[in-house]
Amino acid sequence: MNEVLKVIKSRRSVRKYKPEQIKQEELEMIIEAGIYAPSGHNSQPWRFTVIQDRKVIEHINDISKKVMATVEIEWIRNAGLNPDYDITYKAPTLIIVSGRRDEMSSQVDCCCAVENMLIAAESLNIGSVWLGFASFGFKIEGEAEKIGIPKGYEPYYVFVLGYKEEEYQPSVPSRNYNVVDYIR
Ligand SMILES: Cc1cc2nc3c(=O)[nH]c(=O)nc-3n(C[C@H](O)[C@H](O)[C@H](O)COP(=O)(O)O)c2cc1C
Repeated sequence: MNEVLKVIKSRRSVRKYKPEQIKQEELEMIIEAGIYAPSGHNSQPWRFTVIQDRKVIEHINDISKKVMATVEIEWIRNAGLNPDYDITYKAPTLIIVSGRRDEMSSQVDCCCAVENMLIAAESLNIGSVWLGFASFGFKIEGEAEKIGIPKGYEPYYVFVLGYKEEEYQPSVPSRNYNVVDYIR
């Protein structure tokens, strides 16, 4: 198997991080992988907000859990109400990927950028996990602006990065291979 395929298969969501910060050159390589993602008519509508200030990361945890605690879906509400649950897993770097509101395929383009960055992180043996939960906090009026998302941009996706505290077994969780229809 070639290196790219190996990295794609070895990436796992990491939920335990070492407190030390990742190196700036590693961060830049990861962001560059995002910049190289495909985008509709090459619009490159993304903006990457890199947060390495612990207080701001904690704030994102707090506001997200506050909203999560009010939703109807029980497992999300329970996660929001659990005082021991940190949605950011205390990772030292959090990245918000925002997309221009006036671009047609902005959200999909940003999604492509995130996946590129997760794969790039794994190639450097840096852990990552996509944080759907972190989007709840941006539902609060004014929070995106307060955190520093530029005007005209929508914060679509959030993920964290850090050195892995523990390695995942490559077989966990398993994948369903019964998802392909061939029409030949
Ligand atoms: C859109 C999206 C949102 C996610 N949100 C969260 C989240 O809020 N918290 C979390 O721990 N994992 C989250 N994940 C990670 C998934 O749980 C994980 O990718 C999935 O279980 C497969 O495991 P793997 O990433 O280790 O292969 C999210 C993944 C995606 C793609």
